[in-house]
Amino acid sequence: MTLTFDTVLENLEQGRTLPASWYHDREIAVRERDGIFRSSWQYAGCGEQLAEPGSFFATRIGPVPVVIVRDKERELRGFVNVCRHRWHVVARGSGRRNSLQCPYHAWTYGLDGRLRSAPRSEREPGFEKDELSLVPAAVAELGPLIFVNPDPGAPPLADVLGDLPLQLAAGGVELARLRLRRHVPWSADVNWKASMENYLECYHCQVAHPGLSQIVDVSADNYRLRWNGLLASQSGDPRDPAAYAGEAVQHTQYHLLFPNTTFNVELGPMNMSVDITNATSPRSCAGFTDFYFPPELPDDEAEQLMAFAGQVNDEDSGLVEGVQEGLSADMVPHGRLMTNAEHQIAAFQRLVFDAVAAAV
Ligand code: FES
Ligand SMILES: [Fe+2]
Repeated sequence: MTLTFDTVLENLEQGRTLPASWYHDREIAVRERDGIFRSSWQYAGCGEQLAEPGSFFATRIGPVPVVIVRDKERELRGFVNVCRHRWHVVARGSGRRNSLQCPYHAWTYGLDGRLRSAPRSEREPGFEKDELSLVPAAVAELGPLIFVNPDPGAPPLADVLGDLPLQLAAGGVELARLRLRRHVPWSADVNWKASMENYLECYHCQVAHPGLSQIVDVSADNYRLRWNGLLASQSGDPRDPAAYAGEAVQHTQYHLLFPNTTFNVELGPMNMSVDITNATSPRSCAGFTDFYFPPELPDDEAEQLMAFAGQVNDEDSGLVEGVQEGLSADMVPHGRLMTNAEHQIAAFQRLVFDAVAAAV
């Protein structure tokens, strides 16, 4: 790192961005893992996958692999998906089991995370199974959505979601009616923060999203951006409200739950997509988008909405990869934010800064 934290903070307070180096620096990535991802709530997947006792799925929170299970008592449980023997990832994918067995040396854990058996452990003096349970993580549900946080002492999910459930309900989204229609994995050669920051402003919409700005009023005076706690919310009205009369959704909603989960609601019939972005290296990220609709929504209408979102995502991918190209040159030490249109980026960067500076 070339800049001290004091200088970085001073820059942020003067409307500049985080340093360019923070978008490809290994030490910053480690501090983000420790200071952000290890203690953040993140969307993990759809609860339908965990309907039956014994069902599980594996996912990641940033660089932390986690596994979520529905135990025999139908309790939802989450664990850091790392074997207590020598760190192999225990569970992959999804399925239904009575136990979770590590593929490396077959240590086997119960669905409560306790180590049940380890081959040859009876020959091992002082082998305390009770001390070798999977490390627990916090889990919570919101309608069909499952969230996880590697910090079991984290504040409850409801506290960090703030008024998100109310905003969704008021905007025509009934969470209880949504079902997962499609899961789309993706990856990008860009630091995760550049991707989130792109999400947090619509200053680029008029320029870079012709399709979106044709139907949504993205003008400075009418497009709404609000930050509350860990939730950044954006909302836009249709240019032609009459075109959506009688539809469930009459204004768009785009929310970021800090650090990396987004919730997207497009104009038209009831819909929502949830997207996560995980850092895979300082210069790359990967994630997935889950598209939710009510079960009765015909496929062609769902396809239309997914194609619309896909078009905007493709446009954004090009933009953020262009940003990463510029960042990697390391010739422009920091950017300058437009504080009227990009205040959510300023708030995001301040949260990142505070966590990175505090991480040891
Ligand atoms: S690393 Fe899991 S059993 Fe050896
Ligand atoms: Fe965009």
